[in-house]
Amino acid sequence: MTSAEFPAGAPAKMAAVAAAAGTRSAAGTRAAAGPKTPPPSIEFESVSFAYPDGTQALSGVSLRVEPGEVVAIVGQNGSGKSTLVKQLNGLLRPVAGRVLLDGSDIRSIHVARLAARVGLAFQNPDRQLFANRVSAEVGFGPRNLGLRGADIAERVAAALDAVGLSPAAETHPYDLGYSKRKLLAMASVLAMRTPILVLDEPTTGQDARGVASVRAVVAGAAAEGRTVIAISHDMRFVAECFPRVIVMRGGRVALDGTRESVFGEASWPELHAAYLEPPLPAVLGARLGLGSTPTEVAVVAALRARQ
Ligand SMILES: Nc1ncnc2c1ncn2[C@@H]1O[C@H](COP(=O)(O)OP(=O)(O)OP(=O)(O)O)[C@@H](O)[C@H]1O
Ligand SMILES: [Mg+2]
Repeated sequence: MTSAEFPAGAPAKMAAVAAAAGTRSAAGTRAAAGPKTPPPSIEFESVSFAYPDGTQALSGVSLRVEPGEVVAIVGQNGSGKSTLVKQLNGLLRPVAGRVLLDGSDIRSIHVARLAARVGLAFQNPDRQLFANRVSAEVGFGPRNLGLRGADIAERVAAALDAVGLSPAAETHPYDLGYSKRKLLAMASVLAMRTPILVLDEPTTGQDARGVASVRAVVAGAAAEGRTVIAISHDMRFVAECFPRVIVMRGGRVALDGTRESVFGEASWPELHAAYLEPPLPAVLGARLGLGSTPTEVAVVAALRARQ
């Protein structure tokens, strides 16, 4: 395959990962350590970003994500969610403000080091995938982090297993349907075992089994102490899997807090302004006096008590 045949995102991925190969001893060792490497803190300091056509996508975003936090970003279409996370791996650079990892401006972090610390699964998998075999796609990142042979095979097998794509290891990525290509894009990021895992709309288009895989990936990464940031329009997935929720509106952070506070009744006007519906349990919980994250058991018990 020539570079002319690569989809739009592939050269960026290749550049980042190929550059990682150049610092094999540093980046490779860190990545091999995987979840044992403590994640760096993340700080957005008054970050603004405009696309070349003048579209102002982010305006003065400030937020901090502590090591090991599990955070969802929600908001209406075009509110700047994808633009925000693309600042994290250097795909996009702020036009004003700074993005810091453990206090260092990511502009000063070598692209190889960044690739070993932040893994981003794109919203559109076709901007990320470029290999002609599923296993090669997933093995590309680990190989360029300096791993070889059985180490790569182990990572490929584990990542494919995590997303339920083991049977497709020898398939061409474009022979997979869209939802599976999305899981493949996630697997190729998982195989990097970065301390920060960023998933842009991982559940979109997934059936119940795919959503279960995504949930397990998030839970597994969280249990390993990795930082997880996921963008989603699926409020149930968000409410059930993410202790912290950030709501974006018009390129700004509209709400940022625990899921209990963000989905609590006091926040509903702000959620509605961002074209978001609180999840059903939050609505039921408010009506039944159970708070914004009631368990199914509590809801059923409260409904029975009212009969
Ligand atoms: N490459 C681009 N060139 C110009 N404008 C862009 C580009 N990508 C995104 N935008 C614009 O920037 C703004 C923020 O887009 P972004 O993709 O970050 O939103 P989002 O919250 O991820 O939306 P969605 O939920 O639809 O994925 C929107 O107005 C969008 O149209
Ligand atoms: Mg997006």
